[in-house]
Amino acid sequence: MKRDFLKLTDLTRDEITGLLRRAIDLKGGKDASHCPLIGKNIGLFFEKPSTRTRVSFEAGIYQLGGNAVCMTPADLQLGRGETIADTAKTLSRYLHAIMMRTFSHETIEEFARNSSIPVINGLSDLRHPCQALADAMTLLEKKGKFEGVKMAYVGDGNNVCNSLIEAAAVLGFDLAVACPEGYEPHMETLENARAAARSEIVILRDPREAAGMADALYTDVWVSMGQENLAEAKKRKFAEYQINSRLLSCAKKDVVVLHCLPAHRGEEITDEVMDGPHSAVFDQAENRMHTQKALLELLLSPPQ
Ligand code: CP
Ligand code: NVA
Repeated sequence: MKRDFLKLTDLTRDEITGLLRRAIDLKGGKDASHCPLIGKNIGLFFEKPSTRTRVSFEAGIYQLGGNAVCMTPADLQLGRGETIADTAKTLSRYLHAIMMRTFSHETIEEFARNSSIPVINGLSDLRHPCQALADAMTLLEKKGKFEGVKMAYVGDGNNVCNSLIEAAAVLGFDLAVACPEGYEPHMETLENARAAARSEIVILRDPREAAGMADALYTDVWVSMGQENLAEAKKRKFAEYQINSRLLSCAKKDVVVLHCLPAHRGEEITDEVMDGPHSAVFDQAENRMHTQKALLELLLSPPQ
């Protein structure tokens, strides 16, 4: 039976904690010559641009001995009207797994329903679960645990925020999301996470209240890919939701600052904070590769 990774909760808590431990080992150089993907082709499908997701998957697949096949709709007959279902059935005959970045989450679900190979969500309008794995790994590296750790997410209740909410529920860190009215995270994701969580997940309006005594401060762009037409209105709404030194001073002294990147410097985060001593944003970007390698191992060569 193939396993998909369309949302964080497609893996159990034990699988996620095992994956994070494995990613930390891989980062430390363990099993550097272990090549479980020899002879395997992994598709990387992009409807939108990407720096981290594309290159961390390509590099990680190579390190595991596999081959990455990159595609965009324009390269494929999809661009000329072939259906997602027929594309999924065809690609399943050549590839051993596929990572997909799409506008609509439904596109990834439709592909997964019609493919016989594991499908990994590399960002949709609804979720970014690969990002949440790297976020969790970075939090664990910096704070040594999840329980009792308080994270504040300041900004748009978007795909990154939705997956972070699932991570908080599964791994047990507290999460306060501060966002303007009308920009809350996905309600169903929030309700399911709260029902499953032992930790506290709250939605607030005031960024300072969220950041108060936080161990970690997280933000993402105010305008996600595909929302360019909303840019001016959103920038006005989010003006108070910037991670800057003033907001940092509300948090604990050893607060770690996270951002999935790419950043719009001067909007959701200032240069001073992003380049400052609390920032772990490039460790977080690096951890995309280690966690995705552990994910590919889990989906393609699970322990016997
Ligand atoms: N964080 C992230 O997914 O970055 P890219 O858009 O560069 O892949
Ligand atoms: N929320 C952002 C994340 C980019 C990695 C977007 O969807 O554009």
